[in-house]
Amino acid sequence: MNQLLYSLSKTTVCISLLLLLHPLAGGATTPSPQIVSFEKGFTQLFGGDSNLLRSDDDNTVHLHLNQYTGAGFRSSDMYNHGIFSAKIKLPSDYTAGIVVAFYTSNGDVFEKTHDELDFEFLGNIKGKPWRFQTNLYGNGSTSRGREERYTLWFDPSKAYHRYTIFWTSSKIIFYIDDVPIREILRNDEMGSDFPSKPMALYATIWDASNWATNGGKYKVNYKYAPFVTEMTDLVVHGCVSNPIQELLNDNCAQMDKQLETLHFNTITPKQKTAMKRFRERYMYYSYCYDTLRYPIPPPECVIDLALRQRFKETGRLKFERRHRRHTKKGSQILSSQVYEIQDQD
Ligand SMILES: *[C@@H]1O[C@H](CO)[C@@H](O)[C@H](O)[C@H]1NC(C)=O
Repeated sequence: MNQLLYSLSKTTVCISLLLLLHPLAGGATTPSPQIVSFEKGFTQLFGGDSNLLRSDDDNTVHLHLNQYTGAGFRSSDMYNHGIFSAKIKLPSDYTAGIVVAFYTSNGDVFEKTHDELDFEFLGNIKGKPWRFQTNLYGNGSTSRGREERYTLWFDPSKAYHRYTIFWTSSKIIFYIDDVPIREILRNDEMGSDFPSKPMALYATIWDASNWATNGGKYKVNYKYAPFVTEMTDLVVHGCVSNPIQELLNDNCAQMDKQLETLHFNTITPKQKTAMKRFRERYMYYSYCYDTLRYPIPPPECVIDLALRQRFKETGRLKFERRHRRHTKKGSQILSSQVYEIQDQD
């Protein structure tokens, strides 16, 4: 087992113990974000009754994609800053063309100036691992995508893992379990590209045959339907806001302060190490290193020299694939070829 996996599994155990005691436990003096039942916090967006199934205790939701429809839900309220989190298990086996999205957005209210923070899981052909991306948009900055793409250090279809979007007035952190995988610090030059208006949480499963897997090369195969993603122990915690009134007055200062006292707000040195390892080993695309797309990296980019060296100028990882032929004298390298992950969208 490599060192990253070892340290991650150790932290996962610690976190699981913590969660048993207190969901998303914060500091002793701070009220902690609590698990919210579906009835209390969410409403179905699309898909019929048979595509969104709720458990008896109402803390677990199964979203089905079949040949008729996918399914989705959203939080009933919108939040100006907050923590959005769920334990998620993704569909297994043949998942090409499927997208499971867990994201915050206010696109319903602000069509042209929407904000968005995304986890998007991109299905894959059998035997190939799930990949996923994170992204953000602020005030309708759809022409400035800020995608990063990664693989995972575990099989996300085998067990629940917690995925968290933490958003305050000064930073955004994406977490998987206890590992911060991406941190964006607000920076004056970002201006309104940093999301600043109230957002709702969304969770969806849908057929993205034209886009998701190898740029649409592999379609959803409904022979394997239904495709089910399970979400449990949902958390939405933040300043509940009416997005229209919000533009007139801001009374979320107190909740903003409270969010900053949660442990999610502070990346410990150990977590920083885990984040660095994750990004060095599992990130295979980053807009910050894609100088073909952004000759000058957007202002929030903090350029890591090791990553820049790895990504060269496309932001896209190149692997060297060696073809070996086994001979009586042992293996021999026949050719060496550099290829890119076929992953354009
Ligand atoms: C967001 O964009 C709109 C339209 O371009 C602009 O009028 C508004 O001032 C922007 N908001 C912020 C906070 O910059």
